[in-house]
Formats: sequence, C-alpha cells, structure tokens
Amino acid sequence: MRARPALRFMGLILTLSMLTAAGVVRAGDTASKDAYLRPDGILSPSYNPLTAEKVTLGKTLFFDARLSRDGKMSCATCHSPDHRWSDGRIIPLGSENVPNARRTPTVLNSAWLTALMWDGRAGSLEAQAVLPITTPHEMNFDMPGVIARLQNIQGYRTLFAEAFGNADIDQKRITQALASFQRTLVSNISPFDRWIAGDEGAISASAKRGFALFENKAKCVACHKSWRFTDDSFHDIGLRTEDIGRGAKVPPQVTLMQYAFKTPSLRDLPINGPYMHDGAMLSLDEVVRHYEKGGIARKSRSLEMKPFELTDEERQTLVEFIKTLDGGALKVDYPRMPE
Ligand code: HEC
Ligand code: HEC
Repeated sequence: MRARPALRFMGLILTLSMLTAAGVVRAGDTASKDAYLRPDGILSPSYNPLTAEKVTLGKTLFFDARLSRDGKMSCATCHSPDHRWSDGRIIPLGSENVPNARRTPTVLNSAWLTALMWDGRAGSLEAQAVLPITTPHEMNFDMPGVIARLQNIQGYRTLFAEAFGNADIDQKRITQALASFQRTLVSNISPFDRWIAGDEGAISASAKRGFALFENKAKCVACHKSWRFTDDSFHDIGLRTEDIGRGAKVPPQVTLMQYAFKTPSLRDLPINGPYMHDGAMLSLDEVVRHYEKGGIARKSRSLEMKPFELTDEERQTLVEFIKTLDGGALKVDYPRMPE
C-alpha cells in the first residue's frame, strides 16, 4: 500500500482538474485514484489514546448482554460481526412500535466518523456509547445501574485496572473502552483497494467502467467521497419518508437539512441490504434506479440529486464496482465473559 502523500496529493488535485478540463485525464487515472488511498493508521483522540488493554475491555463490554437491564441485549445483538457489524434487519430489535424507527448502521470504520447517528446527534464514539445503553427500546438501563452491576463482577475490576491503572468503574471509562474497541474495526483490504494500490488485475474491466460512471455520469462521488466513500455530511436524497432526520436538530429554515440523513459509507455493504436509514431498499439495482430518477423533488432535496439515465449494462457495471468495495467479513474471536 502506498503511503498517503498529503501535499503532493493536493498538487495532484489541481493538476487533475486542469487535465480533465483539457480532456487528457480519464477517471481511474492515478491522480483521481489517490483520493481513495486508505490511511496508514487508526485515528484516536488525544483524550482517549488507543491501548491494547482498553480495546480488550471495550470488546468484552461490547459483547456483554449484562449492559442491558434484562441481561438479554449486547451492542453486538445489533452490531453483529455476522452482519457486517449491523443486524441485517430493516427495523432494529425492539423498535417495532417506535415511530420512524431507523435501521442499524454498521460500526465499521467508526474511528473516522465526525458525526454519529443518522442525524449526527452524537459528536464522538465516547458520547454515543451512553445512548444505546439508556434508550428504553434498546438496552433500557441507566448508567448508575450498569456501573453497580459491573462493580460486582471481579473479572471486570481486573480488566478496568489493566486498562486504566486502578479498578474504579465509571461512565467515562466504560465509554472510552467501548469507543476504543470500535476504533479497531476497520474494513479489510478490498479488491478496489488493491486496484488503487496499483494491481490492475484486482478488479474487472466492467467494474472499472462502473467506477468511471460513479465519478462522472452518475456523480455519486459528489457525496460518497474518499476511501470511506462518504463526505460525513447530510443530504435529502428524495426518499419517501416521514422522518425529517437532521431537520429535527436544526431550525426549520435550514431547508437543505429537512429529510437529510448522513451519507453512509459504501464499503462492505450487505449484498441484499437493507439499505438507507429506513431500510426501504433491498438491492443495489433498486438504489441506482432511485438515483437515476432523482427521488422526490422537494425544497430540501440536495442540488446534487440530478436525474440521469443509465443503460442496463451501465447500471450493472456501477453495481459491480460497488461490490469491489467489499473486503469480506472481519473475523473476531468472541471474548470470554468475566465472572
Ligand atoms: C437495539 C439495537 C441496537 C443496540 C443494542 C445498539 N445499537 Fe448502536 N445503533 C442502533 C441504531 C438503530 C443506530 C442508529 C440510530 C439513529 O441514527 O437514530 C445505532 C447507531 C450506532 C452508532 C453510530 C454509527 C454511525 O454510523 O453513526 C454507533 C457507534 C453505535 N450504534 C454503537 C453502539 C454501541 C457501542 C452499543 C452498545 C453499548 C450499541 N450501539 C447498541 C442500534 C443498536
Ligand atoms: C446528494 C448526495 C448523494 C449522492 C449524489 C449519492 N448519494 Fe448515495 N447516499 C446519500 C445519502 C445521504 C444516503 C442515505 C440516505 C438516507 O438513508 O436517507 C445514501 C445512501 C446510499 C446507499 C445505501 C447505503 C446504506 O448503507 O444504506 C447506497 C448503496 C448509495 N447511497 C449509493 C449511491 C450511488 C451508487 C450513487 C450514484 C448513483 C449515490 N449514492 C449518489 C447521499 C448521496
């Protein structure tokens, strides 16, 4: 894997637009490919540096159903390694009667998230971790209850001491450990990554044509950018939904945020969905056809949602390209539950 040459990379962008304007550069040429280079390491904030001991503790907590009031639900119930760290469901367990329930997003590559949840209402993995534990239709517990329960488990006192220097258990340490473990969940190298790194045979000629459509005619790259294929921003892509998403977090006059949801990554997608915040689409073909039509034309719809038309063959190559972003399931050894 080539290292990311940050400054040179900026230079290349300029060169690319100049060359593209001159009609010299096609999508898939080196300059364009550098925008998709994977980072060399994992990001972690200075207030919670990544350590092996915190990761071990966080992994144990992530798989432990005792973090829920009735002891039946762990984070991994909904963010399961068997379902690409989501749950494979349209509506999460327990949310059947919740109005505008949202689909469970993956926690893969969450080290790079700048806004969490479909509407961005959490600012960090540390802040997010309290929400599922205390949400009534999820783990339905309270932090003092979780802390008291963990304090009674000798094995946890040992794990906390190894991670933080002493056996004290509090909300900050629980959320720091959960965040640390999640930061280690990084997509495996995919065929697309091998191609970007220079292996021409890593993806098929038709997937390469699909990538060119992704960058040009279909303009998916307007929102699905960088190695994670997201701009970490929010858009209304014209879906039929009652949920106003980010609109509920900002004043109503912020038109473009009504019905807006966070752009999800396109890496390691489950083959048959469900896709979108409400799990309403079950195939990539259906997703691409939605973008071709452009969705509901309302005031909030993103200006990047411009209808276009693909031939059947083009649509297939675009889907084939998206499938090259799949690095395969990330294997984990399930942790032993402390007593
Ligand atoms: C009942 C299912 C369920 C459980 C249990 C659950 N989650 Fe989630 N998780 C969700 C759903 C649904 C969302 C999206 C909610 C939204 O956007 O409104 C989500 C969102 C997230 C996100 C944000 C991802 C992103 O792309 O923004 C993270 C991180 C996360 N959960 C971690 C956890 C952790 C850590 C636990 C355990 C403490 C946990 N979850 C337990 C269903 C669940
Ligand atoms: C205007 C920005 C924008 C453009 C352009 C765009 N997307 Fe998206 N994409 C999003 C957002 C935002 C979502 C989530 C929408 C929601 O759930 O309400 C999304 C969701 C998806 C999903 C579902 C992923 C998941 O985990 O549920 C796929 C697949 C996808 N887009 C592929 C594409 C393709 C292919 C194109 C080009 C044809 C494209 N997108 C163009 C912003 C965009």
